[in-house]
Amino acid sequence: MSSSVPVPGGGRRASVSASDPPNFASLPLKPAQQQSLITVFLRTLTMICTPSPPLSIPIPANTRGVPPSSYGGPQSPTGLGTSPRTFSTSFSTSPNATSHIRGASVGSVFHGMARQLTAFLPPTYPLEEEPEKRQGKTKVLLLENINLDAAQFLKNQGFEVDHVTKAWTEEELISKLPQYQAIGIRSKTKITQKVIDANPQLLVIGCFCIGTNQVALDYAAKRGIAVFNSPYANSRSVAELVISEIIALSRQIVDRSQEMRAGIWNKVSKNCWEVRGKTLGIVGYGHIGSQLSVLAEAFGLQVLYFDVIPIMPLGSARQVESLEELLSKADFVTLHVPEIQDTIGMMGEAQFAQMKQGSFFINNARGKVVDLPALCTALESGHLAGAAVDVFPKEPGSNGPGFNETLGDFIPRLRQIPNLIMTPHIGGSTEEAQRAIGSEVSSALYRYLTYGTSLGAVNFPEVDLRAITTNDERHIRVCHVHRNEPGVLKGINNILADHNIEKQFSDSKGDIAYLMADISGVGQEEVEGIYSAIKSTRANILTRLLCE
Ligand SMILES: NC(=O)c1ccc[n+]([C@@H]2O[C@H](COP(=O)([O-])OP(=O)(O)OC[C@H]3O[C@@H](n4cnc5c(N)ncnc54)[C@H](O)[C@@H]3O)[C@@H](O)[C@H]2O)c1
Repeated sequence: MSSSVPVPGGGRRASVSASDPPNFASLPLKPAQQQSLITVFLRTLTMICTPSPPLSIPIPANTRGVPPSSYGGPQSPTGLGTSPRTFSTSFSTSPNATSHIRGASVGSVFHGMARQLTAFLPPTYPLEEEPEKRQGKTKVLLLENINLDAAQFLKNQGFEVDHVTKAWTEEELISKLPQYQAIGIRSKTKITQKVIDANPQLLVIGCFCIGTNQVALDYAAKRGIAVFNSPYANSRSVAELVISEIIALSRQIVDRSQEMRAGIWNKVSKNCWEVRGKTLGIVGYGHIGSQLSVLAEAFGLQVLYFDVIPIMPLGSARQVESLEELLSKADFVTLHVPEIQDTIGMMGEAQFAQMKQGSFFINNARGKVVDLPALCTALESGHLAGAAVDVFPKEPGSNGPGFNETLGDFIPRLRQIPNLIMTPHIGGSTEEAQRAIGSEVSSALYRYLTYGTSLGAVNFPEVDLRAITTNDERHIRVCHVHRNEPGVLKGINNILADHNIEKQFSDSKGDIAYLMADISGVGQEEVEGIYSAIKSTRANILTRLLCE
């Protein structure tokens, strides 16, 4: 199979070379802390290299940082193909880190010409009932009204895309999904073990959202299905919401607005404050916390932050030693930590008591991080002057019966408290974030299907190879998902021994390992033999060959 369309993608991943990264290994830190530092370093690098958002209105159709030529533009292969890894592989093994690499690389300058690869679909490949599809296009199903730019992008790459506005039930996924090799979902579609079992042809799942709880991740990995998401595309949206809440709380805007709606003219200035000169305490200085820090300083706030790892401050922000110190010094405390064992219930009665009298509290992180009844008490007593809560321990899937019960029995109390802003988990819900998520996940699907690149996969080893750029047309790329057992590579290399292995890279994650190898000097007639031999190996989970 061949394509005459060249792909600009053979060169460098970006001018953001990390050729001289700080020597984190020399610091007296645990491996997890070193990894976090690397993440922060990459984040900073990305922030430096990410173009500023356009200031003009209306908002452009394409996502910031992704030029039209590489996203949703006219039919032209993009520069998103595999490329030389400017970052060493040790930088790419955490989802955090690769997210930054992706952010920096998408739409960045690629040199050289890469080959467009096409899936080799053997005669036994599922879809026998649709032989024309076997010869034709990979089919992608997008459910839950995924951003149309993402659908267009995938169409432009030559995929056959079906765009559906609703979620599908398990029954529908079992009966109708077998036509498709890739599926894009948001949070309502559940990809269960049963769905996976019913869809042996499925190669990849794109979660066009932050979370991936709706997918049986481990089981998908065991079946060789890579899952991608977009964990950080909405960071800016959350940071901006927090800025709005800081001002709304300090000016009691929501209460005044409600009073006006009720016909009350309540022109007060008592206990209404400017934010200039006040102290913002950020708990968790990650993607959102650090963006917020920059925005807050522009408003004249002084920024303190607490994080479990030492992180270089942006601007004039200052890291404090302990949560207690932050709570006792900040006029506004805002949480931006993940929901993990250490953070569940991290703000309770004792912590609210440590906050300054008359200060404000904001939670846009995760619901379980805060003891909401304790927050009610701190607000009712007047110790805190206001709060904004965007996330709840249990969030209702829909309106109607059970709404209050799902949220929790503290909800009636919260509703009675003045200067309390409650929002339905909308921190990351903006048009821009949806576009950015669409761009990131559709790019990931495209790169995985077309080049085998699993960078950014949440359940899968992250593997990439630089592009095939030579003029020799007899190249194939082997993508081999297998059980992580001794001797597998030896077996595969024996199969490939008669050919020239131009390059190969393998990585493992738990029980699963993924090998990519580019082989040259392969005749068309040999492809099926190589495929069958690899597929028959003991540890095989999934074998794909990509040919020119
Ligand atoms: N409201 C929304 O719609 C919305 C949208 C996006 C993200 N979020 C949530 O916001 C939170 C932060 O997201 P992010 O993208 O900035 O995450 P991130 O991983 O980039 O940053 C989290 C930071 O918290 C730090 N941290 C971890 N444990 C800590 C602890 N015990 N004390 C202090 N710091 C700690 C980490 O070191 C890291 O720097 C997450 O919980 C995420 O789920 C909410």
